[in-house]
Amino acid sequence: MEKLKITGNGPLHGEIVISGAKNAALPILCASLLTKETLKLTNVPMLRDVATTQKLLQGMGARVMTDNVQEFELTCGSVNNLVAPYDLVKTMRASILVLGPTLAHFGEATVSLPGGCAIGSRPVDQHIKGLMAMGAEVTIDHGYVHAKAARLQGARIIMDMVTVTGTENLLMAATLAKGQTVLENAATEPEVTDLAHCLNAMGAKITGIGTPTLVIEGVDSLHSATHSIVPDRIEAGTFLCAAAATRGKIILRKAAPKTMDAVLDKLVEAGAIIEAGEDWISLDMPKRAHAVNIRTLPYPAFPTDMQAQFMMLNSIAEGTSTVTETIFENRFMHVPELNRMGAHIEAEGNTAIIHGVEKLSGTTVMATDLRASACLVMAGLVAQGETIIERIYHLDRGYEHIETKLGGVGAQIERVQ
Ligand code: UD1
Repeated sequence: MEKLKITGNGPLHGEIVISGAKNAALPILCASLLTKETLKLTNVPMLRDVATTQKLLQGMGARVMTDNVQEFELTCGSVNNLVAPYDLVKTMRASILVLGPTLAHFGEATVSLPGGCAIGSRPVDQHIKGLMAMGAEVTIDHGYVHAKAARLQGARIIMDMVTVTGTENLLMAATLAKGQTVLENAATEPEVTDLAHCLNAMGAKITGIGTPTLVIEGVDSLHSATHSIVPDRIEAGTFLCAAAATRGKIILRKAAPKTMDAVLDKLVEAGAIIEAGEDWISLDMPKRAHAVNIRTLPYPAFPTDMQAQFMMLNSIAEGTSTVTETIFENRFMHVPELNRMGAHIEAEGNTAIIHGVEKLSGTTVMATDLRASACLVMAGLVAQGETIIERIYHLDRGYEHIETKLGGVGAQIERVQ
């Protein structure tokens, strides 16, 4: 099994190019199921979750062409297998994103229920409730959701909580429904907005984009389009945190600072000097970070996907801080690993109290989920001595060439067997 070996060696310096957003690429790849014509995508990050989605779509009969340099052409005219099997869904929960578009276009879909995952139970009841409100007949049998509808009907759907993939599934389904659909309490994450723009380029009629009320006038069919995936705000935030933790100075290119206000504000509060233009961000961290309090909430507030990285930054900051996780119930698995490296963190319920320490020390740690893994990489960059990170397949789900990118700004990091 592959591992990462990191030797802490001081501040990061230089430039990193940011990839397309994983969480925008996954629903947009699935949006190709809504048309028989070809969807062309650029700036797609080459990640394990993207490869899993490709495999899922190909298994359904889609033609997927990729040159492996972030460009994809997907044609779903020959889709003939309307099933997302457990084997794929269990490795990537976002597989549920084929449910809405497959049902809307082909009148039927069968998707394995994702079940729980390391960070929480993560049910999909809102996806199902919304599709039923649009007239779908839904049954759950042998661990699979089976949905059927000759044609979905527009409906007003008020979601019980803000759900990102739930909003995306219903948004895609509504594009081909008969009549108007209104999605209330919709997620406003930039990745949902990116999907909505792509759908409109395919001929959908969506208004209210970027707001909690999405209004969709259903159309009879969608057509071909070309779309570039929005930059990954979580990858960008992770590298900024890494630079801040090492007291470095970096510039990110091809980034989207306008989607990162909450994270940039917290970095400034921690003492970073941040400058930003349309598609770049620079960070300079001349001295030790100040501890900052964090509370995760849906966009535009502070993202749960940046919680672990800020916890790491706080662990070596000056002062005591609290981090409260309100989105997922079990997202503190990095705490014991950080403590093994010398951090002083007490977690109780969904709040962690972090007493900043002067330094961490390298050891062997285990990655447990995607963003927890990123926080352990950051810890390795600042720790004294060598850190070995095991189970890095989590990292490969969501960070493109992380060791090359960090190596390019001076980190001593290598992938070993
Ligand atoms: C997406 C992101 C993930 C991010 C999360 C929150 C993708 C592929 N993944 O995950 O990186 O951490 O948003 O920003 O985009 N919930 C229900 N019922 C539902 C749906 C959700 O109870 O039907 C709950 C979940 O258990 C969770 C909360 O709602 O507590 C938010 O989850 P959700 O936004 O759906 O997360 P994902 O879309 O799975």
